[in-house]
Amino acid sequence: MPNTETHRAPWADPTNIGEHVLPPHAAFLGGDALCLNGTWAFRCGLALPAGDPPFWAADGGAGEGWTAIQVPGCWEPQGFGKPYYFACGFPAFVGTEEGHIPQVDESQVYVGQYRRSFATPEIPAGSRAVLCFGGVKSAFRCWVNGAYAGFGKGSMLPVEFDVTDLLHPGQNTLAVEVRAFSDAVYLEDQDMWHMAGIYRDVTLRMEPPCALLDVYAKADSDGSLRIETETRGGDAVRARLRDGETLLAEGTAAPGQVLTLACPPEHLRLWSAETPNLYTLTVTLLQDSAPADEKTLEVGFRRIEIDGERLLCNGMPVKLRGVNYHAFTPTGGYHVPVEVYERDLTTMKRHNINAIRTSHYPQDDVFYTLCDRLGLYVMDECNVESHGVREKNVPGNDPLWTAAVVDRMRRMVVRDRNHPCVIIWSLGNESNSGENHHKMRAAALALDRTRPIHYEGGADLQASDFVCVGYSSWQREQLFAEGKDVPDRLGVVAEEMDPALLMSVNMIRYETYKNHPIVATEYMHSMGNSGCEMEKHADVFEHSDRWCGGFVWDYKDKALAHPALGYGYGGDFGPGDQPGTMCCNGIANPDGVPHQQMAALKAAFQPLEAEHLGGGRLKLTNRNSFVDLADYDFTWELTRDGVRVAGGGATLACPPRQTVEWTAPLPAGWDAPTPGKLCLGIAFALRQDTPWAQAGHVLAAAQWTLADAPKPAPAAANSAWQRTERGWEAATANGRYVVDAATGDLAVLAGPDGANRLDSALRPNFWRVPTDADLGFLGIVMRKDQDLDAWGRLSLGLDSLPADVTAQGDTLTAVSALPGGGVLTRRYRPLATGLELDYCFTGGDSMPRRVGLQAELPAAFDRMAWLGLGPQDTYAGRCFGAAFGWYEKPVGAQDEHMRPQEHGEKLGCRALALTDAAGRGLTAESGADFGAAAWPYTLADLHKARHVAELPPTAANTTLLLDAAQNGLGDAFVKLTDTYKLKPGTPYRMRLVLAAR
Ligand code: GAL
Repeated sequence: MPNTETHRAPWADPTNIGEHVLPPHAAFLGGDALCLNGTWAFRCGLALPAGDPPFWAADGGAGEGWTAIQVPGCWEPQGFGKPYYFACGFPAFVGTEEGHIPQVDESQVYVGQYRRSFATPEIPAGSRAVLCFGGVKSAFRCWVNGAYAGFGKGSMLPVEFDVTDLLHPGQNTLAVEVRAFSDAVYLEDQDMWHMAGIYRDVTLRMEPPCALLDVYAKADSDGSLRIETETRGGDAVRARLRDGETLLAEGTAAPGQVLTLACPPEHLRLWSAETPNLYTLTVTLLQDSAPADEKTLEVGFRRIEIDGERLLCNGMPVKLRGVNYHAFTPTGGYHVPVEVYERDLTTMKRHNINAIRTSHYPQDDVFYTLCDRLGLYVMDECNVESHGVREKNVPGNDPLWTAAVVDRMRRMVVRDRNHPCVIIWSLGNESNSGENHHKMRAAALALDRTRPIHYEGGADLQASDFVCVGYSSWQREQLFAEGKDVPDRLGVVAEEMDPALLMSVNMIRYETYKNHPIVATEYMHSMGNSGCEMEKHADVFEHSDRWCGGFVWDYKDKALAHPALGYGYGGDFGPGDQPGTMCCNGIANPDGVPHQQMAALKAAFQPLEAEHLGGGRLKLTNRNSFVDLADYDFTWELTRDGVRVAGGGATLACPPRQTVEWTAPLPAGWDAPTPGKLCLGIAFALRQDTPWAQAGHVLAAAQWTLADAPKPAPAAANSAWQRTERGWEAATANGRYVVDAATGDLAVLAGPDGANRLDSALRPNFWRVPTDADLGFLGIVMRKDQDLDAWGRLSLGLDSLPADVTAQGDTLTAVSALPGGGVLTRRYRPLATGLELDYCFTGGDSMPRRVGLQAELPAAFDRMAWLGLGPQDTYAGRCFGAAFGWYEKPVGAQDEHMRPQEHGEKLGCRALALTDAAGRGLTAESGADFGAAAWPYTLADLHKARHVAELPPTAANTTLLLDAAQNGLGDAFVKLTDTYKLKPGTPYRMRLVLAAR
């Protein structure tokens, strides 16, 4: 039902999309402007009145409550108001009754009042002074010297006012009133913090009397450059195209006429994410042949097309190896300084990420310039998400919302259409679909026909050129690749999760999705320690013409700086009804430091597919669309137990999307049965420095095991176990061992020096502190993270696990009955080199997520070296890209997640040493793979902590974890398949030799 209420304040009236706002235009490089960022006077409060005199008046803004704030920056992270996090939906004061939207209780809305003064530069006669707000959330009014300048809405794009007549020479006063909530909140219901304030730059620029108001430059892959301009005054427009300092083309036209230039073919180097070739375009408005105004931009020649089901760039199929990216910093909220953009975007490039969806609103304009230069494809998304009211005709077909959504789309397209990086427009997110989306689409196409349009809401292929698929298993993605009818379940929904919580997707019939490219708009949900079979998704996309790739959800954890907790997530700043760490789904932490899963993603996204055909013969496929493998430095290496045996460089050419074979020149006799694990590894590294990484940076690598011959069994020490008051004891020339007679745990592991290397017994562990995916969405909302089952109680020492311990000759056997009818058997046998521990777990009806051992060691044992998979943490299903070798890491260097949880596992270990600076400590070796981790806190500390800052700041001990097996990680939206879960009845075994060093 259309909303018919009238006479609303501008911030409560969706049809009011701004007052005195100047038309949008492209963002240009450089240009002089007075920067008004800095410290502003500020006051903030609930339903704050204007004051008397009003705060915007010349004599206003003094008295109670006034303090200072940094502009740009959201005000909540600076200590004002309360940041509020919802995955979807609104605080109670935002009404959602159908037919009565918008309905915001003004008494509950924080209002921020800002003031600052500044000296105006001289305004040359006939010039126009333009005040630009790069981004203000949610709606704002502005006054200059007490006079009303205008009202702005649509919070993720610039709003500009003409303030020429309001300024005077000397000091001027600027006053701004920002409302944290307005009717716009219904269109900005993103899964994100509600935060407010002036969070992007504020500038004042002088527009000359004859002005170039806008430039739209279309640079095509045929080298043509078509330039449209909008001017005020002037009698000619001149355009010059340069490559560096070299002038390539020049042309002049009358204002309003289209100007066409051509890049000479010999100079034409096309733009793509792999080859971000840019040219400088200078457009000059002439008056009486003299330059009156000039704008500079960078253009990239490229063409984006949909050809049937394929997405093409410059005629080549491209695969989007993308991430979703919010505008976020822990201290500034939506404010992202350019250094943070640079850091995040270069980190992405270094990890083979080639595409970004600006979920779910446009970024600051400098972001697009950086993506042009670094080479990143961008799906530019409009700031429209009506998630909480999307079933209530918002925006739907209701004319009430038409102006607002079309305005948001138009402003984004006009600002960003010159950027070669922008290859797709997106109408927004999770807003269902209706006439208003069709109008947004039409508005975008009227402004730019060179890009396809994406929209994931409502599966509406009249609105979207792409079929959008979210959070599927790769098996379900494969059904699309094969052109099958695809069932209506969202991949496989996590067991703990109520399927009703997920957007439902009906059976998708091949008939409906054929003839459209398919994109995984959001996939591989990365909340907490997560990720499984990432490479399988990539394989499906690479091998299917129909799939053009996807965007991982998402790039950074969105936890805000918290005075006591370090990083705070949903509920830490206010009422506890917020869905906790649902705001932390990043493959990087809030400060952009990659989580361990980013290493696996880098491998999944690498521009190489490699297969070992046997005997060192390799089949290599170049997954690039434009760059030959010959452009990289190629090396190979043969290692035995992590030690180099042979290797070298080679010249290897392989054109984009082609396959070649290559045989490694393995040394004669390589296949002799020598003990140890023999691995062949290859790597492709950058040959030249790039703006995002130096020469030598490895982009793609692979490794295969060629042989794995057992080592001779270590000799027994023939030392019998003795029953003493301390337990069962055995001693050899190299060690002394004591096993607890009641529990069967190893209590003493001493070397010839007699000193015990264990601060606590080496005892069973069946607990992993649940990952966010283990908890699932509901588990997180319901704060189930502290729940313990029988396995947790045993592992945290709350219940005891007795063992039946018997000695026979040099073998001591401890057998324990486990919950659910399982059995744990540990056999200890002294060897000449250490103590052999043969551990075997067989589960009954109830299975833990992890099967292994734990012990606390002296904190001085703070260096971990391992021969196993590395360097990144590995889990079942998340080993892709890890290589077998020797690695070292300080125990303190942990990748903690916002809610501390299981982390740090290294799989495929054959040897491990935990030592102090002098090399004293403990070692474990095995002829078969085992898992290991070491933390600077205990399992109980990790279990108890809900925030990183709640972990002990200094280590009382090093905790060693040795694992026979552990579940894979999965993610919160796609159920972990049985392949990666421990199974009842299967014996999980590890056979270690432990020794004091
Ligand atoms: C998606 C949504 C994202 C985010 C994600 C869950 O459906 O588009 O914004 O909420 O779910 O983390």
